[in-house]
Amino acid sequence: MKQQPYILAIESSCDDTSAAVLHGNRLMSNIVASQKVHEEYGGVVPELASRAHQQNIVPTVNHALKVANIKPQELDAIAFTNGPGLMGSLLVGTSFAKSLSLALDIPLIPVHHMHAHILAHLIDGAHEAPITFPFLCLTVSGGHTQLVQVDGPKQMTVLGETIDDAVGEAFDKAAKILGLPYPGGPMIDKLAAEGDANFLTFAKPNLPAYDFSFSGLKTSFLYTLQQKVKDHPNFVAEHLNDICASYQKALIDALMIKVKKAAKDTGIQNFAIAGGVSANSALRKELKTWGAKHKLSIFVPPFEYTTDNAAMIGIAGYYNYLAGENAPLSTGAQAKIKF
Ligand code: KG4
Ligand code: ZN
Repeated sequence: MKQQPYILAIESSCDDTSAAVLHGNRLMSNIVASQKVHEEYGGVVPELASRAHQQNIVPTVNHALKVANIKPQELDAIAFTNGPGLMGSLLVGTSFAKSLSLALDIPLIPVHHMHAHILAHLIDGAHEAPITFPFLCLTVSGGHTQLVQVDGPKQMTVLGETIDDAVGEAFDKAAKILGLPYPGGPMIDKLAAEGDANFLTFAKPNLPAYDFSFSGLKTSFLYTLQQKVKDHPNFVAEHLNDICASYQKALIDALMIKVKKAAKDTGIQNFAIAGGVSANSALRKELKTWGAKHKLSIFVPPFEYTTDNAAMIGIAGYYNYLAGENAPLSTGAQAKIKF
């Protein structure tokens, strides 16, 4: 049997520059250089993101190779995110991956960023008992909100997705309204832990089937606060924890309605979450409670695989490699790309 491949993976789709080395499905290193430059702007500035990727990419790759104790000549393939994402950011990782694959004369493997978030669950040791197919996956990040049926590493069907904002975006925009730093999700999570989730209520999204909508909730949040502040100028400062807890509950409720419906309709017993928002402690707790009640297996990823990272690109690249999916050197980055 052929030896398992050594794969170098590169992720640069948004504001994290990351490189990882995998030996088959086993992770040997996973280095993430996060970009602090966006904090003062309250969101990712694409032009600054691509510049920072340009500065970070070589040291990040060198660091990943060093931690894995692998020489470039020992690599069997280079996997990279070819989309979706910010064009300028994607181009840095794509160009780097293409150059290295040309220099080392090894295959170049394009990876879909959203497939990768899901496949992070298949990294060796991600769970005590490995996840089995089929499973449902709620992928929740700053750019996407999707409910996906996963029948195999290469067999995935989107059951539903957001028709407007992503849930991470809904966290981040509310945080901005509250004057909290970017990214807002982790901050709201922390503040909400000390708050009363029933303090405020917001307009609930009401879409059929498995699709999501968060823009109405965000608007309801803004109008509710504007009204309260008109009557009590110190309302936000005095009730910050309760405001965060109530809004977070509204977002999680909107997700859970669809999660429960999909599990009921499909009868699938394994349920996973992925993406940056899967780091949210209240969402994790809610899913675990629901799973225990209905005897479902809930797969919550280790924190290092929630926000953007190259380990997930590596595992998705591994399955593409096994399927013989190589890209020619003429391949390009794609800001929008079919699931
Ligand atoms: O997957 P990710 O790193 O990047 C994208 O592909 O978008 O997700 C980033 C998103 C941000 O919106 C951030 O606020 C959110 O994940 N996030 C969280 C938490 N940690 C990160 N949202 C809620 N609670 C958290 N603990
Ligand atoms: Zn992501």
